Amino acid sequence: MSHAEGVNVQRRRVLIASTAVIGAAGVAAVATPFVRSWTPSAKAEAAGAAVTQDIGSIEAGQMIVVKYRGKPIFVVKRTEEMLTTLDSVKSLLSDPDSDASLQPEYCKNPERSISPEILVVEGVCTHLGCAPNYRPDVGAADLGGNDWYGGFFCPCHGSKYDLSGRVYSGVPAPLNLPIPDYNMDGTILTIGEA
Ligand code: FES
Repeated sequence: MSHAEGVNVQRRRVLIASTAVIGAAGVAAVATPFVRSWTPSAKAEAAGAAVTQDIGSIEAGQMIVVKYRGKPIFVVKRTEEMLTTLDSVKSLLSDPDSDASLQPEYCKNPERSISPEILVVEGVCTHLGCAPNYRPDVGAADLGGNDWYGGFFCPCHGSKYDLSGRVYSGVPAPLNLPIPDYNMDGTILTIGEA
């Protein structure tokens, strides 16, 4: 079920639930519904069982975090506006076509996804494994101003990723954020199965 909790996106607090929704930037405080995750048993999860999540309640611009094999998986519902940034940001990226990065073949496209609006990406920095923050606030002064098109920022050593999890050039992280195997059936997302 769900309940509300305020979130300040600029100072994202540590979320103790395995699944939580982060509000889009530009809003000082937003309702943060927690959604039930249909997870397998601990034993099955340790063995790598797929995780199923209904993502129908995610609002445009929001991100939820789903735990899979002990890792946070970021699921973002991108807006049309967000999708247009994926082309604008290309010249600033280290591997814009994801040639050196990990993703299933069916996600080797500019959106790095099955369905353009839904991004499913590992929330683990490819430098030393910190969890990046979701920063969809285009033009954020602390992230490069006009060169920031929204994405993920790793606070540990300053790596930046775009809204497809593609890494910026000139940061410590060497690769784009990995995309796990997943499939979609309507609003039902299954992570861990192609
Ligand atoms: S762990 Fe992310 S920049 Fe170092």
